[in-house]
Amino acid sequence: MALSLPDFPWDSLAAAAAVARRHEGGIVDLSVGSPVDPTPEVVARALSAATDAHAYPQVAGTPALRAAVAEWYERRRGVSGLHDGNVLPTIGSKELIAGMALWLGLGPGDTVVHPVAAYPTYALGAALVGADVLASDDPSEWPESTRLIWVNSPGNPDGAVLDHEQLRAVVARGRELGAVVAGDECYAELGWEGEWADSPTPCILDPRVVGDDLRGVVSVYSLSKQSNLAGYRAGFVAGCDHVIGQLLAVRKHAGLMPPAPVQEAMRAALGDEGHVREQKERYRARRAALAPALEAAGFRIDHSEAGLYLWATRDEDCWTSVDWFAQRGVLVAPGSFYGVDGGRHVRVALTTTDERIAAAVERLQG
Ligand SMILES: Cc1ncc(COP(=O)(O)O)c(C=O)c1O
Repeated sequence: MALSLPDFPWDSLAAAAAVARRHEGGIVDLSVGSPVDPTPEVVARALSAATDAHAYPQVAGTPALRAAVAEWYERRRGVSGLHDGNVLPTIGSKELIAGMALWLGLGPGDTVVHPVAAYPTYALGAALVGADVLASDDPSEWPESTRLIWVNSPGNPDGAVLDHEQLRAVVARGRELGAVVAGDECYAELGWEGEWADSPTPCILDPRVVGDDLRGVVSVYSLSKQSNLAGYRAGFVAGCDHVIGQLLAVRKHAGLMPPAPVQEAMRAALGDEGHVREQKERYRARRAALAPALEAAGFRIDHSEAGLYLWATRDEDCWTSVDWFAQRGVLVAPGSFYGVDGGRHVRVALTTTDERIAAAVERLQG
């Protein structure tokens, strides 16, 4: 029996990538959110001090890492009182997102809800277990069969931020349905506009969202973006001790343990805010250069108040926009990768060097 998987979306960008690569100044690849800046010193030092890693690492994470995660939620996410049973490290967050429906025992007849404009891995996780999937941002539409609800704030691809009230409505409906609510929050430190310009975006575990009870709610986080650790595979999940316990039990059986040196690197990264601020300023400058260039080229930027992408539209089919960029040696992602409603947008990533951003700006003016 073969698994029925969706096509891997990026394969369909190959033709546009080939066009962009032929540009005399080389390609500017703004189609993926893969960090390009150096690994922070504090992380590299911690990693190299932890290379004597002969024993199997702990699936639950070292006590020092679990304490660092709990302390970080208190300091940066406004969530106090997490203890060891509330936190669990993951091997980056994508594997957890893809595996969550499976680890929670979902299957045919169950429904997984995800945002309308969404990172494709939520739907993949439902497909892996034969569950139904519903793309909906409106809690009143979520059916009785809902067992897992993904929210993503700040959002990929559209950079939209959910405030406490919106998150509270999600959690309230999730509890009514007896569903697990998972907030995927990996861009929380990368806010640009309004109140998010200088402080993290709201956390799904915030007491203003969950009250004094974490029941059924988890926050999924990644150090890929804020700390340039995509290559380390460094993530974690925190919240409801029952859900975390269930995940821990199955992940122990499956041997899903972040490597010990990476656990140390994560611990160090979580304790240092300086490198996160520095990285945010790099992205802020790239965004400040790119956004007006897109607007001058006739694009409107929707949402994008946080995160690593500009969600841009010229009210034309997204593939027309992709081709227009490719002719200028710039590769962007079509919005259709993120759901049917994205068919008239493109997602433009901020994750390239200052030099490549400057090249893109120049080409968009031409
Ligand atoms: C919304 C969202 N969630 C999760 C991830 C996965 O991050 P990682 O697996 O690197 O931790 C990404 C990566 O782009 C993302 O955009």
